[in-house]
Amino acid sequence: MEKDIFILGIESSCDDTSAAVIKNGVILSNEVAGQKCHEAYGGVVPELASRAHQQNIIPVVDMALKNAGIKATELSAIAFTRGPGLLGSLLVGTSFAKGLSLSTNVPLIDVNHLQGHVLAHFIGEEGVDKKMPKFPFLCLLVSGGNSQIIRVDDYLSMEVIGQTIDDAAGEAFDKCAKVIGLPYPGGPLIDKYAALGNPDAFTFSKPRIQGYDYSFSGLKTSFLYFLRDQIKVDPDFIEKNRNDICASLQKTIIDILLIKLRKAAKETGINEVSIAGGVSANKGLRAALQDDAKKFGWNLFIPPFAFTTDNAAMIAITGHYKYLNQDFIGQDAMPYSRVTFDK
Ligand code: KG4
Repeated sequence: MEKDIFILGIESSCDDTSAAVIKNGVILSNEVAGQKCHEAYGGVVPELASRAHQQNIIPVVDMALKNAGIKATELSAIAFTRGPGLLGSLLVGTSFAKGLSLSTNVPLIDVNHLQGHVLAHFIGEEGVDKKMPKFPFLCLLVSGGNSQIIRVDDYLSMEVIGQTIDDAAGEAFDKCAKVIGLPYPGGPLIDKYAALGNPDAFTFSKPRIQGYDYSFSGLKTSFLYFLRDQIKVDPDFIEKNRNDICASLQKTIIDILLIKLRKAAKETGINEVSIAGGVSANKGLRAALQDDAKKFGWNLFIPPFAFTTDNAAMIAITGHYKYLNQDFIGQDAMPYSRVTFDK
């Protein structure tokens, strides 16, 4: 009989401390501790994030192991997010994983956070007959730090074919939300107000750039100037039009994302299309993708909400596939902050 594979995943790349255990690709536990300490600052404060990770990491890992009913010494491997992300935050997860590996003699696996988001589609759930994408597929990865179109040829073979040249889609949501006085992170609030507004009430600029790349900085500026001009005429403009402003902004961001995704699907001839990352929780984006899937005959894959935002289950599943390749890393592994797919 084959030996069971138990992978502990540890995620600490930004402002969520998470630990998860996966058995033979099926999730047993996935614990996430968020960080409220950033709310007052309108964005993640790196130094506060690393301190909060230090406080959270032991209880979160402990809970993940307990809820999975397994001891650390019984694990097959410990997978941790090595990057990209905030260096101070990554250091906490990396150091903890190394320490746990040393004390238990369980091997270490380093995971690229972006690869983790993509492989979230393969997290098995007990009793759920899950439809998983077939290779090759396209993944629109949209989060607070990334906006990319990725061509996925195999679990561990993927290529970024388009990406943002400035802000990420999540950043566009959050920064524009800040302009209209919404707290951080503003993306979910824009989503909420957008559902009550008219998406065609206002128009904002869309970038014209080559290939499958994205740009959101022009939209941010156009949004800011539009509001500045309107407020000159009516100081209560934002309050009176909040729902329409949010709906129009959201529609613009979705249009920008989908124009390039449609182009990529058409030109590569790939009709297995998926979405990943925190922004994929956006209801307008999900609905627009479903419309496109019908229109263009795509097989569409949208992960469950818990696996779209930062979570350790996606790190554990990536660890699982690296484990199958016996792809381990030594105690000298250092975190990296920059986006790359070749680590
Ligand atoms: O992947 P993620 O959890 O982590 C980071 O990249 O840090 O993504 C977080 C981002 C934030 O920008 C947040 O505003 C955005 O995802 N987000 C949303 C929604 N839920 C989260 N944006 C729009 N609509 C949502 N419903």
